Amino acid sequence: MRGIDVCCSGNPYRVTIGAGALTALADELNRLGFDDTVIVVTDATVAELFGEGLERHLAESRFSPHLIVIPPGEDQKCLEMAGVLYGRLNELGAERSTPLVAFGGGVVGDLTGFVAATYFRGLPLVQVPTTLLAQVDSSIGGKVAVNHGTLKNNVGAFHQPVAVITDTSLLTHLPEREFRNGLAEVIKSAMIRDETFFRYLESQMECVTARDTEVLERIVARTVEIKASVVAEDEKDTGLRNILNFGHTVGHGIESATSFSLCHGEAVSIGMIAATQIAIAMNMVSMEVFDRLKSLLQRAGLPVAIPDFVDLGAVLDAMSRDKKMAKGRLRFILPVRTGVVEIRGDVSMDLLRRTLESCYAAA
Ligand SMILES: NC(=O)c1ccc[n+]([C@@H]2O[C@H](COP(=O)([O-])OP(=O)(O)OC[C@H]3O[C@@H](n4cnc5c(N)ncnc54)[C@H](O)[C@@H]3O)[C@@H](O)[C@H]2O)c1
Ligand SMILES: [Zn+2]
Repeated sequence: MRGIDVCCSGNPYRVTIGAGALTALADELNRLGFDDTVIVVTDATVAELFGEGLERHLAESRFSPHLIVIPPGEDQKCLEMAGVLYGRLNELGAERSTPLVAFGGGVVGDLTGFVAATYFRGLPLVQVPTTLLAQVDSSIGGKVAVNHGTLKNNVGAFHQPVAVITDTSLLTHLPEREFRNGLAEVIKSAMIRDETFFRYLESQMECVTARDTEVLERIVARTVEIKASVVAEDEKDTGLRNILNFGHTVGHGIESATSFSLCHGEAVSIGMIAATQIAIAMNMVSMEVFDRLKSLLQRAGLPVAIPDFVDLGAVLDAMSRDKKMAKGRLRFILPVRTGVVEIRGDVSMDLLRRTLESCYAAA
């Protein structure tokens, strides 16, 4: 088991990572001074797989757990469901000191976090992420949100958890595509911050995809460390934190142009390829870096070309509406070498269009 301390203003918190870490939840709640009522929000899939085990663990450690089970899926991350949860908290007699445990993927984490940030102006939040994406990304950093109208994550807050319990053994049950979804963020983290980690992934990708216990624990822990260090330097997302968006400028455009039929990690994978091609055209990075990144993404089972059914005009349109537009210019995170990226605002529309044309599978 590993512990990573995340520094943030006021309330530093600990991320406990390892196979079997779930059994540390009660101790962590005790250490934080909570007693009795614990409200756990989860989705039906996670409840079915692990709900009973979690309830038993908490009950055996003198807590009274109450499980609130919502349907799975991104659609649940909305104000209506937040309203349902406020109602349940009221019925359960939640007080300002009652901890809310988000037990699930990023959807449960973001929604529960949003409810925790707003109910009684802030309940303590414990993140217990169960997807690879939630373990390495959404449970860290304190961003919580729901979707409203046609926009994603547009109603939200910064609400840091008091603790994160990351049990890598829960990933054994994760469907292949969900696993790859998180792997894209792992590879991204290595590309933006850590050449040694990138080499490690190159040497271990087959063990990663086989979900080897040791390797999984190590890659989750390193990716959490990387995100935590970036977030600690830029908690409110005003500068450095942008580097976490490597691959996301184009990625979001593709996700949105395909009405989310490509999952986030798949779109980000293609986005990292596009960003690296742009960097090559701007003489910022070598072809060797591009080849290594492409090969690693392919070995992870991620796409490296835009599928032919994706409409380029729609991608460019979606990108121009993106929140990563700074003063009318798109902001790109471009690689300089493995482990180092730069934030750039000087990518021309013409270069972007030409690069995306060359990123099509049939090109
Ligand atoms: N707050 C942030 O900083 C941040 C960062 C990245 C993404 N996000 C958000 O995260 C969300 C996506 O999260 P996600 O990819 O985890 O999706 P998700 O929460 O929808 O989970 C994916 C699916 O996996 C199932 N599942 C969860 N754990 C499982 C397990 N251990 N075994 C088997 N099945 C399991 C879920 O029931 C669901 O059907 C998006 O809404 C995105 O906006 C937030
Ligand atoms: Zn992402």
